[in-house]
Amino acid sequence: MTKTHKIALLPGDGVGPEVIAVARDVLDAVSAQTGARFSYSAHLIGGAAIDASGDPLPQTTLAGCLESDGVLLGAVGGPKWDRASVRPEAGLLAVRKALGLFANIRPLRVEAALAEHSPLKTEIVEDVDLVIVRELTGGAYYGDKRRFSDSASDLCIYSTGEIERVARVAFELARARYGKVTSVDKANVMETSRLWRETVTRMHVESYADVKLEHVLVDAMAMHLVKRPRDFDVVLTENMFGDILSDEASMLAGSIGLAPSASLGVSKPGLFEPIHGSAPDIAGRDLANPVGTVLSAAMMLRYTLGLTKEADAVEAAVSDAINRGARTADLGGSFGCREMGDAIIKELHAAALPPGHRMPMHWG
Ligand code: NAD
Ligand code: IPM
Ligand code: MN
Repeated sequence: MTKTHKIALLPGDGVGPEVIAVARDVLDAVSAQTGARFSYSAHLIGGAAIDASGDPLPQTTLAGCLESDGVLLGAVGGPKWDRASVRPEAGLLAVRKALGLFANIRPLRVEAALAEHSPLKTEIVEDVDLVIVRELTGGAYYGDKRRFSDSASDLCIYSTGEIERVARVAFELARARYGKVTSVDKANVMETSRLWRETVTRMHVESYADVKLEHVLVDAMAMHLVKRPRDFDVVLTENMFGDILSDEASMLAGSIGLAPSASLGVSKPGLFEPIHGSAPDIAGRDLANPVGTVLSAAMMLRYTLGLTKEADAVEAAVSDAINRGARTADLGGSFGCREMGDAIIKELHAAALPPGHRMPMHWG
């Protein structure tokens, strides 16, 4: 009998529910076409959960995640909760920690048809194909936070083991790709960065000498990313630097709305989410680009559910829809979030037909 894959949906806040609804429709289309079976359970997280129960990560949500095979998350946060004593973002940090998701994989590929939408020149961004491996459960995000009468502190702490396990992911990924790791730190100032650099260097010598390794300081990396992004393959970095560099890198492809991510740990389930936030400025207006979430669902099919053909089909359908001109407002188009999802689903269906039966389709 075909296995039913259990998927926990965490729509969250702002545009989160809009992009998750589209990703679910795409998964349903995959299911109808390939026979892969999915069952869904939806749970509150972030501001929506604070409103319902006062807790950004209710126990029922965590339990729902733990009994699933994969978790698909929209986004959390928004101005409504910016001054609340408990923030929506705490729910996201808590679920990452509780599921042990120490490696956040953020691939960034530039679709040729979208290169002109990047704020950077086409000749700089075309053919970019890099992946940021961001450490996700350590550093200043999780260190002790203090508030004093006239000062505040965030402790940034990394253990050798935390660095080793995420560096291993980066080296293995590089071996399966173009064979290069760029490790990004601030070793000229931060002690955690000096430990980071020593640890990555030792692992390289001991176990990964076949992979090319370079170390780059984070401030310079921010510059190199917009000057010569094609030179990078796997970019390995700590939590905070990875957060910042990945939003910057997303613009190489034209919009933050395109970028997916996979957060992986020692065991299942993984968590899959676009890198963008709840986009309060466009929420509730069917304006969000759902591609980052749809591609996150494809990463879930590939990495956690083992459905490689299905993942390939979703990624191809996204490219095909873009190549036929489907564009949301962030890319200068007039497609709504739903309409963009429908365009992707149409391509999925078209690809399933034998070549002679495919209908020519044109978008706007
Ligand atoms: P944001 O990513 O929400 O938005 C930044 C800009 O990008 C906005 O102009 C927005 O309209 C645009 N944008 C984002 N996603 C888009 C999409 N799918 N399609 C089209 N345009 C899109 O970042 P922000 O405004 O700094 O943060 C808003 C809230 O989201 C904050 O509360 C923040 O903490 C939260 N946040 C959550 C996550 C997450 O849940 N993973 C990630 C980042 C930020
Ligand atoms: C992201 C977000 C989160 C982060 C916030 C909302 C906690 O910016 O997923 O990139 O900083 O990790
Ligand atoms: Mn971020």
